[in-house]
Amino acid sequence: MAISAKMRRFAENSSWIRKMFEEGGRLKKLHGEENVFDFSLGNPNVPPPDIVRQKLIELAGSEEPGAHGYMPNAGLPSTRAALSSYLCGEYCVSMAQDLIVATCGAAGGLNIIFKALLDAGDEVMCPAPYFVEYGFYADNHGGVLKPVPVLPDFTLDLDRMEREITEKTKVVLINSPNNPTGQVYSDQSLAALGRILDAKSRQFGHVIYLVSDEPYRKIVYDDCCVPCVFQYYPNSLITSSYSKDLSLPGERIGFVAVGPAAEDAEGIVEALAMANRILGFVNAPAMMQRLVVELQGMCVDIGIYKKKRDRLVSALSGFGYELTVPRGAFYLFPRTPIPDDVQFVRLLLDENILVVPGSGFGGPGHFRVAYCVDDRTIEGSLPGFERAFKRAKSM
Ligand SMILES: Cc1ncc(COP(=O)(O)O)c(C=O)c1O
Repeated sequence: MAISAKMRRFAENSSWIRKMFEEGGRLKKLHGEENVFDFSLGNPNVPPPDIVRQKLIELAGSEEPGAHGYMPNAGLPSTRAALSSYLCGEYCVSMAQDLIVATCGAAGGLNIIFKALLDAGDEVMCPAPYFVEYGFYADNHGGVLKPVPVLPDFTLDLDRMEREITEKTKVVLINSPNNPTGQVYSDQSLAALGRILDAKSRQFGHVIYLVSDEPYRKIVYDDCCVPCVFQYYPNSLITSSYSKDLSLPGERIGFVAVGPAAEDAEGIVEALAMANRILGFVNAPAMMQRLVVELQGMCVDIGIYKKKRDRLVSALSGFGYELTVPRGAFYLFPRTPIPDDVQFVRLLLDENILVVPGSGFGGPGHFRVAYCVDDRTIEGSLPGFERAFKRAKSM
């Protein structure tokens, strides 16, 4: 067999998102694109701001020598400098450019962080439900993902996290605003988490790092603010990207920022840069690095996502679905009206509605609706959501 046993296992149990994507393709061929309501992928449907295209045209015309060449593995000095001045304001800390590494998206950021921090067998604790790729990323670098369930409103279960941290825990990984729940963790919970990690690091005699995965930081609603982990725990790293806030997921551009007060921050940055190199990313794409220099702080119109969120929240609640109103990102994570989420997702499939079972995110009894889709998809799906709910209730 050519393919390794591990990769075969991964492919077999791989992502529900992928399965739904494939199922969507089949249904679209059968019933026509316009009759299938696909909420399975977190691929932003809002186009990038106009300025992105203008700047790309300018950059493509530039004759600057070496513009397409290799560069330091941590990124272009101009990109790191632009990020440094923006992030000082965003995080309310002094963020030297030497503490920033340009990456191939947040996924690239997480992979270089794990490569830099994990030894074989180290545990990465993360609140569940969680972004499914986390398990693969931890495994890529010898780590083991340890999901810990959140509370029913999707906030952190701090008591349980505290109880389940062991001497093998090297990283606690959080994601706020969260995929798939849309929850945003409060200042109070991050402060409490910081105190727990501080005490546990002392108890076990090694630093437990807090990694905050923040590609949805700017996509928040109703004046919600995303607190910065650097305020609450020095040994923190943040990774983010321009995939969601500028709708550029295919361009693979993001960054890692190392907490200015982190132990051995300089050593960590060196390890991150080396990880960029030896994982084969080498560096984040040169043109995209130049692009984002000029776009710090920009974001697509969040009002568009808010309208979609409000429409779905009010319609689905009206049909009887139980849900927590998301405060950020572009996902809803309602409870399924029957305990078996996979079975319920099949009922929705009968209505040509594609969503992802919560089990795929370590959150059974729920389903994820990615509402970064056009309004026609939302409106067209509503009768099907209502019928599936009624069918499930009569089972
Ligand atoms: C929680 C979370 N983290 C990381 C990523 C990867 O982001 P990027 O495309 O910037 O690598 C995603 C993408 O959907 C995500 O939802």
